[in-house]
Amino acid sequence: MKIYSLFIIMTLTLGLRAQAQGKPVYLDESRPIEERIDDALRRMTLDEKLAVVHAQSKFSSAGVKRLGLPDVWTDDGPHGVRPDVLWDEWEQAGQTNDSCVAFPALTCLATSWNPQLARAYGESLGEEALYRNKNVMLAPGVNINRTPLNGRNFEYMGEDPWLASRIVVPYVQGLQSKGVAACVKHYALNNDEEYRHQVNVIVSDRALREIYLPAFEAAVREGGTWAIMGAYNLYNDQHNCHNEILLNRILKQEWGFDGVVVSDWGGTHNTMEAVLNGLDMEFGSWTNGLTWGASNAYDSYYLALPYRQLITEGKLTTKELDEKVRRVLRLMFRTTMNRQRPYGALCSEAHYEVARKVAQEGIVLLKNDKLKANGNLPLLPIASDSRILVVGENAIKMMTVGGGSSSLKAQHEVLPLDGLCGRFAHVDYARGYVGDTVQSYNGVTVGRSLYDLRTPEALRAEAVEKARQADVVVVVGGLNKADYQDCEGHDRRDYAMPYGQNELVRAILAVNPRVVFVNISGNAIQLPWVNEVPAIVQAWFLGSESGHAIADVLSGDVNPSGKLPCSWYARLEDCGAHATGSYPGTWREGKQIIDEEYKDDIFVGYRWLDRQRLKPLFAFGHGLSYTSFAVTQAVADKSEMTSAETIAFTVSVKNTGEKAGATTVQLYVSDRKSSLPRPVKELKAFRKVFLQPGEQKDVVLTLDQRSLSFYDDRTQQWTAEAGDFEALIGFAADDIVKKVKFRLK
Ligand code: BGC
Repeated sequence: MKIYSLFIIMTLTLGLRAQAQGKPVYLDESRPIEERIDDALRRMTLDEKLAVVHAQSKFSSAGVKRLGLPDVWTDDGPHGVRPDVLWDEWEQAGQTNDSCVAFPALTCLATSWNPQLARAYGESLGEEALYRNKNVMLAPGVNINRTPLNGRNFEYMGEDPWLASRIVVPYVQGLQSKGVAACVKHYALNNDEEYRHQVNVIVSDRALREIYLPAFEAAVREGGTWAIMGAYNLYNDQHNCHNEILLNRILKQEWGFDGVVVSDWGGTHNTMEAVLNGLDMEFGSWTNGLTWGASNAYDSYYLALPYRQLITEGKLTTKELDEKVRRVLRLMFRTTMNRQRPYGALCSEAHYEVARKVAQEGIVLLKNDKLKANGNLPLLPIASDSRILVVGENAIKMMTVGGGSSSLKAQHEVLPLDGLCGRFAHVDYARGYVGDTVQSYNGVTVGRSLYDLRTPEALRAEAVEKARQADVVVVVGGLNKADYQDCEGHDRRDYAMPYGQNELVRAILAVNPRVVFVNISGNAIQLPWVNEVPAIVQAWFLGSESGHAIADVLSGDVNPSGKLPCSWYARLEDCGAHATGSYPGTWREGKQIIDEEYKDDIFVGYRWLDRQRLKPLFAFGHGLSYTSFAVTQAVADKSEMTSAETIAFTVSVKNTGEKAGATTVQLYVSDRKSSLPRPVKELKAFRKVFLQPGEQKDVVLTLDQRSLSFYDDRTQQWTAEAGDFEALIGFAADDIVKKVKFRLK
């Protein structure tokens, strides 16, 4: 009681002192933020309120100059801070101080299965954003990889809601620890790019809750994200930037989100819906700014003059507007108005170190067979004195430029060929094929031409000729950031490897079987020669340190430890979205809407493969190492748990090989019997562990009631039914090495 009174007296004294000094409450940092918000709100005029809820330029919205409240500056996201664009247009502004560190794409981050690294990624990005005076990063993306054709999967964290949740939380916390808001996107069900403004998703409540929402829920409830971006597509016949169910009911009411809902750029379509259904800030509606339509495009925004008119006509009160402004003020107080914010740094050594580490830990050794022609040894790692032939366009193509809004102006990007030349003494190169020669995006140009006018036959012949002499041929191929590949705005048209790379690989194999294929992509691709190529490495889009990280892994300086965050289907038909014929949906008669019913329901990724008893080419969670690991023991701390308890599994993992390395122990829950159909197994815990040769460590994996629950759409609740469960413990979805039974009482 005494302490409480003391507290009140102190608060009053501080408040009085501030007032006595003439400082208004909203500027008084000793006051709670909510009080400051109330005070600022009271002082604002109607026009000032309207101004803060919509854009004033491509990436910013106005503050309140009269009150000294700063503008909000957003920027993409998610792999580095995008270069400044012109006030009204997408074209870059041509600044000379906005080159950044390009961090690896988020799929690579998820592949590290390393939450500490995700934290470091967020912190580094936050520091770069601070330097560039951005207080909202339009990042990270956590849409679920439902089909490998989605052009934007590279910006997301894979197919599994639990893995994505564990990576998004520390990313958000790391970023926001620097006083820069995360804006988690694209909420929700934005799982294809093709016709992204028109797809109306029809999905069961179970699939929505169990598959598509958990990463967003974790970002809000655990990560405490200060902003969320609505998605372009529709759900329940309503655009997601003003979707009553997703925004009002689930995000704000159920999860208690107190931050701002930001529209995707041009994702707002209707003033009344935007006002009533939870949108707080409108961006990008007249995406071409001043050159399109109205004399001041921003005044024509749905949340600008049209909103004002509804208020002045008495069709709306300012109730909703005040609520939106409150949220925007909260964002300002949390970011630019926070005087405790640290300082930023651009392109620091520490940021490059984080970028390289993420790239190293995200590279996946998909296969590394022993090869007769190599003395019955695997091809990788490559000995330092080997004569290496590098083949392929992706060895010399910058991947930080292109792909849509995540395109960057990197201070440097070490190309794979340069990284390999720096590490090995004898490296030769042959182009092998020509794919996409464009090396510019929104005015950011690479300044190095990729044009090559030779015929495909001539390019292939050169590679084959040189391959005859090589100890090892490293083909660096895959996809790129061009339209219809790994790029925003469209999906891939098919699952096949483009640009005649299959023919190239086969022609090289015919003269030299010692081939390593390094695949650069954000997605799985069909690999028709998978049984003939002895070593395959998945290298995603690795950012600034790309070439270094690839050389680190191919040379064995770094032991690979990445584990796939998505299933690698042998055929596209093995993916649920395609097997059920529900992708890409059907045009609604006479309407500009495509209905896409998610008939694969909760069976996405490995959940579908398990159910259909299909074998993937490479399973979710798969990734090899230059050493080997074994689980020597797995024990639970109890055999029966109540719903109020947790259950802990102690798993002893041993490095049984000769090199130091890391692996990730994965725990999948299998519900033996339930009143609704459930996946055969679902990932619910994991831990990455680093071990010296011969070393053994215990890792503890814990489950709680939610880990055992499904979303019961009959009662609209998460439910864990009593009965028998199994913890399936292993190193991949198809490599379960221990099973531990337990009961829920
Ligand atoms: C993308 C967003 C991005 C925004 C601003 C949109 O087209 O979907 O992810 O943040 O543009 O560049």
